[in-house]
Amino acid sequence: MPSIKISFLFIYCILAQNSLGLSPVILIPGDGGSQLEAKLNKTSVVHYICAKTSTDYFNIWLNLELLVPFVIDCWVDNLKLEYDNVTRTTRDPEGVSVRIPGWGNPEPVEWLDPSHDKTGAYFNSIADALVKIGYVRNVSIKGAPYDFRKAPNENADFFVKLKTLVEETYTTNNKTAVTLLVHSMGGSMALHFLRLQKQPWKDQYIRRLISLSAPWGGAVKALKVFAIGDDLGSLILRESVMRAEQITCPSLAWLLPSPLFWKPAEVLVQTDKFNYTINDLQKLFTDMDLPNAWEMRKDTEQYTRDFSAPGVEVHCVYGYNISTVERLVYKPGTWLDGYPTLSGGDGDGTVNLRSLTACEHWAKRRGRSTLNGGKPVKSLPLANAEHLKILHDQRVIDYITTVMKI
Ligand SMILES: *[C@@H]1O[C@H](CO)[C@@H](O)[C@H](O)[C@H]1NC(C)=O
Ligand SMILES: *[C@@H]1O[C@H](CO)[C@@H](O)[C@H](O)[C@H]1NC(C)=O
Ligand SMILES: *[C@@H]1O[C@H](CO)[C@@H](O)[C@H](O)[C@H]1NC(C)=O
Ligand SMILES: *[C@@H]1O[C@H](CO)[C@@H](O)[C@H](O)[C@H]1NC(C)=O
Ligand SMILES: *[C@@H]1O[C@H](CO)[C@@H](O)[C@H](O)[C@H]1NC(C)=O
Ligand SMILES: *[C@@H]1O[C@H](CO)[C@@H](O)[C@H](O)[C@H]1NC(C)=O
Repeated sequence: MPSIKISFLFIYCILAQNSLGLSPVILIPGDGGSQLEAKLNKTSVVHYICAKTSTDYFNIWLNLELLVPFVIDCWVDNLKLEYDNVTRTTRDPEGVSVRIPGWGNPEPVEWLDPSHDKTGAYFNSIADALVKIGYVRNVSIKGAPYDFRKAPNENADFFVKLKTLVEETYTTNNKTAVTLLVHSMGGSMALHFLRLQKQPWKDQYIRRLISLSAPWGGAVKALKVFAIGDDLGSLILRESVMRAEQITCPSLAWLLPSPLFWKPAEVLVQTDKFNYTINDLQKLFTDMDLPNAWEMRKDTEQYTRDFSAPGVEVHCVYGYNISTVERLVYKPGTWLDGYPTLSGGDGDGTVNLRSLTACEHWAKRRGRSTLNGGKPVKSLPLANAEHLKILHDQRVIDYITTVMKI
């Protein structure tokens, strides 16, 4: 007899879960985490091999055919932004139009290359795992890409569109509150979005935020990219070539270390003439001959000044135990145009540990509640989960599928 009772209970639970429905998921990518398309109608190019015109939009981001020697120079020339220090905004170069394809569709954030080449695998493993437990792409898995070259000040329309996407997704999923599943800078975008919304709206529409590798307090890596560039972990790309595009991105200035998490006594860039701390960024960018980097920092600083909680349930997942740049050290006798040694500390290989763990601050008590208004803040530190590889880490996939069934 007891066994019959148990199975009745079991059936009841399954029915209850089905009628409540799985929380639909909106995927928000990080820096570089979505497809980009460009259309050209240029009057001049940097090499004779560069195309001046294109009949239509074509995939430009992580298109392996474009990331080869010489052609990469055309790529840089098309994707770099021009900063206007009067309007304090950026624009595409003359004759180039860049757009982000597939709003709402998860495909452009699952695969960075529309041909689904493995090198551009992004949210695909997580989406596949969600499908296995009953999710349906385009219905209960949606994608929210944005122009990751830009910071929130130039992505105002993203926050408006995201609110509509959340509401539509809630409605088409039988009024089920939505989970925001975010990676890296997508976490900072989601945090800004949630701060813009009123608490009753969040209580109704947002089930939870699951963040992977979010740089809540910035990363010294951004300084490193301004100084010497980044090869995106690829053996075929040269840092110095990529840098020409990277240093034009306001999002990189937004990701610089936050004064809330770095003390003025800590040296970020060391030379024998001057040691630069978080308070010396203006001097640093002047000395590096990157005046626009300082202007873009000023434009984006407003988003790093307060660290108020999102006001929704948080699952903060991050890696540690991987050497992560903490300081740039220029040899005595060399200057900022030399090549520094990268001194490492703990983190996920891209983001410093103090920034990844900053979410834990929201769990702190304030009077009878917590800084997060009593909403749970769980963190899941994972040894050796690298910043990008975390997207395909079995521990993360198991955690997400478990949480999503609750
Ligand atoms: C929608 O949810 C309600 C209760 O929350 C439930 O009664 C109904 O069966 C659900 N409908 C569908 C199509 O899942
Ligand atoms: C391309 O730009 C030229 C001006 O440089 C303009 O006259 C022409 O209409 C443009 N073509 C298209 C297809 O936009
Ligand atoms: C804007 O940039 C120009 C050209 O680089 C420079 O001469 C000027 O001083 C800058 N103005 C401001 C307000 O930063
Ligand atoms: C999702 O929707 C887009 C746009 O309507 C469509 O191109 C794509 O094939 C759909 N994906 C799936 C898996 O149905
Ligand atoms: C910068 O810091 C290093 C290490 O602490 C020290 O050896 C060096 O003298 C400092 N340089 C200056 C200019 O203060
Ligand atoms: C940290 O990484 C080292 C290799 O870099 C490894 O030997 C060690 O086991 C790791 N620690 C943990 C807690 O996984």
